[in-house]
Amino acid sequence: MHGRANIKAGRDGSLKLGKVSLVKLAAKYGTPLYVMDEDYMRGQCREYLRAFRSRIAGTEVLFASKAFLTRAMAALVRQEGLSIDVVSGNELECALSAGFDPGNVHFHGNNKTPSEIRRGLEVGIGRFIVDNFDELELIAGTASALGKKADIMLRLAPGVEAHTHKYIQTGQTDSKFGLGIADGRADRAVDMALGLPDVRLHGFHCHIGSQIFDIEAYKLAAENMIAFAASVKERTGFVYEELNLGGGLGVRYVEKDRPSSIDQLAELVCSTVVSESKKHGLKVPKLMVEPGRSIVGEAGVTLYTIGAIKDIPGIRTYASVDGGMTDNPRVALYQAEYDAIVANKAKEKPERLYTIAGNACESGDMLIWDIKLPELKAGDLLAVLTTGAYNYSMSSHYNMHAKPPVVFVRGGRAQVVVRGETVKDIMKPQLLPRRLQG
Ligand code: LLP
Repeated sequence: MHGRANIKAGRDGSLKLGKVSLVKLAAKYGTPLYVMDEDYMRGQCREYLRAFRSRIAGTEVLFASKAFLTRAMAALVRQEGLSIDVVSGNELECALSAGFDPGNVHFHGNNKTPSEIRRGLEVGIGRFIVDNFDELELIAGTASALGKKADIMLRLAPGVEAHTHKYIQTGQTDSKFGLGIADGRADRAVDMALGLPDVRLHGFHCHIGSQIFDIEAYKLAAENMIAFAASVKERTGFVYEELNLGGGLGVRYVEKDRPSSIDQLAELVCSTVVSESKKHGLKVPKLMVEPGRSIVGEAGVTLYTIGAIKDIPGIRTYASVDGGMTDNPRVALYQAEYDAIVANKAKEKPERLYTIAGNACESGDMLIWDIKLPELKAGDLLAVLTTGAYNYSMSSHYNMHAKPPVVFVRGGRAQVVVRGETVKDIMKPQLLPRRLQG
C-alpha cells in the first residue's frame, strides 16, 4: 500500500520499522517521536558512493546536513565515508564534535558571518562555497589576517529552473543564492578570486533545487556549468578542478510520487559530465554531489498519539495529534503531502476519511488533508511516513512545545540519539530580572 520496503505490519497488527515495533517504541519513549531507520540511511550513503564512483572515480559525496543533523547522524555519514556540508557555525561545530576531519567539511551559506569565516579558516575546513562578492572579500581579508589560504569554490546560478516548490528552487538567475552566469557576475567573481593572493579557487558549485523529480534539469545544469568552465579557461587560462552539482533528488512522500533512483541520477549526471568535458576539451573534473533529503527522508517516521476527534457533519472529520507544525512545518510551509498508517491497526482496512490536525494554535497547522484510515479512537498511534528530512532540523518551539526525541533503529534494536526536551530545557535560557519578580 505505502510501498516502503522497510515498513511492514507485524503478525499482531502492529507496524514495524526495520524490525522494531513502533507500538513498543511509542510505549517506551512517548509521542511525538522521531524514528529513523539507520540501516536505510547507511544503505543510501553506500548507494550514492557506489553509483557515482563506479562512473566517475573519486567523486566526493557530501551529506547536506541541513536535512537532518544530529551528532549521531554526522558520525554515521563519517563512518560511511561521506563528507558533509554545513551552513552555519553551529552545524560546523556539530560535525567536528562527531569526529569529522575538518577537511571533509564544506561551508555553504549566503551570508556567513565574520566569526563563522574565521572559525572555518582556523579549523581548516575543506571548501568555502562562496556565494557573493562581499563574502569573497571577507574570506580573502580574514585569510590574509590569519596567515592562511582559503580554499574556495564559487556558487553559481546556472539559470536552470527545477520543477519544484518556489521556495525550494534555487538555480534560477533571480535567486538570493549564487552568482549568475547569465548576468556576468560569475565571470567577475572568477576574476576577483584569481586576483586574491590568499584565495585558492578550486572550481564551481551549483544547486538547482530540492525534491526534484524531473532529473533532466541536472543535465541542463551540468551543461551550463561546464560550458561556463570552458569559457573561463578560454578567457583567463584558469582550469577548474572541481565541479559540485548540489543535491536535490526527490523522495517518495505519497503513493503518486515517483522519484528517480540514485543510480538513474548518477548515470545522467556522470554521462553528461564526461561527454560535456570532452566536447569542450576539458579534463573530467573531480565531481561532488551533496544529497540531503534522499539519504534521510524515507528513513524517518514520526509517531503521534491521536487525541480529540472532531466530526463536523457533512464537512470533515478532524483527528488531532500531539505534535504538528512544530515538529513538521513542511505542510504549512510548502503544502507538502504525507502518508500515514495507524501503527496499532496496521492490518485494518482504511475506511474513513480524516484530516490530521496538529496541536499548535494556528489554523494552518495540519499534517494531512484527507487521508483514509481505519476508524480512529483517542489513544491510537499514528505513524506519518517520510519525515526524516527537514522535520527535526526545522522544528520549532512554537507554543513552547518541547522538541521530540530522536531514536535510531538498527538490526532490530532502538537507541535514543537525541533525548526529548523537558520543560526545564525550554526554561533554561529564560531569565526573570529582579524587577519582574515582585
Ligand atoms: N546543497 C545545497 C547548496 C542546498 O541548498 C541543499 C538544500 C542541498 C544541497 C540538499 O538538497 P536535498 O538533497 O536535501 O534536496 N526545507 C525544504 C528544503 C530546502 C532545501 C535547501 N537546500 C524542504 O523541507 O523541502
